[in-house]
Amino acid sequence: MLLVPEAAQAIIGSRLDKPAQDRLEAAARAVCRPIDDKRGTTEFRIDVAAVLTRRAALIALDRARTKLMAKHHIGAKVNGDPVEFLCETEDTLLDVLRDTLNLTGSKEGCSSGDCGACSVMLDGRLVCSCLVLGCEVGGRSVETIEGMAKGETLHPLQKRFLESAALQCGICTRAFWWRARRFSSERPARPSTRCATGWPATSADAPGMTRS
Ligand code: FES
Repeated sequence: MLLVPEAAQAIIGSRLDKPAQDRLEAAARAVCRPIDDKRGTTEFRIDVAAVLTRRAALIALDRARTKLMAKHHIGAKVNGDPVEFLCETEDTLLDVLRDTLNLTGSKEGCSSGDCGACSVMLDGRLVCSCLVLGCEVGGRSVETIEGMAKGETLHPLQKRFLESAALQCGICTRAFWWRARRFSSERPARPSTRCATGWPATSADAPGMTRS
C-alpha cells in the first residue's frame, strides 16, 4: 500500500487538473525514499511511486463522480420547511434525517421497526423512519420530533412527560410522545378526565389533561 499524505496536502482545495496532478507527483517524489537493488533502481521506484500516486487520485475522483451521479435528488417538506437533499437508493429516511439534514432527534435503536425510537410523521401518518427509504419521501411532508415543540415552547405532552419525569433513558422517549399524541388525537376530547390506564383521554392540546 502506498500512503502519501504529503501529496494529499498538496492538492487540498484545488481541482484535480494537470497542475494539481503535477503537484501530486512532485510531492510523492519528494517524500519517497525507496531502496536501490538489483530488482529496481531508486530512480525507477520513485517514478513508479509518482505515477501510482497520480493514478490513485484520478481513480478516487472517478469513483466519487460515479457515486454522486448515482444519487437521487429529492425535494420534500420537513417540519414545514422545503428541503432538498441527495441520497443513495439504499439510504433510509432515518439516515437522511440524521446524516444529511442534521436532525438527530430521531434515534436508531433496532433498525427493524420494533423500538420506535426513529418515529416520524409522514404525511400525517406515524411511521418508523428506519423502514422508509429517503427516496420515497419526494414531494411528501415529514414531521420529526424537532418539529413537535414550537421554538422554546414544548408541546403539552412533552411538558407532561417532563413534569412526570417520564423519560427513561431518553432514546425511546420520542416514540412515546408520537404514540401518545396520536392516541390522544384519535380519542374524543374529554377535558379533565383520564382513562383507566392513566393515559390522558383528551386531545394532546387540551389544557385540561390530568396527571396519572
Ligand atoms: S430504529 Fe427501531 S423502529 Fe426504527
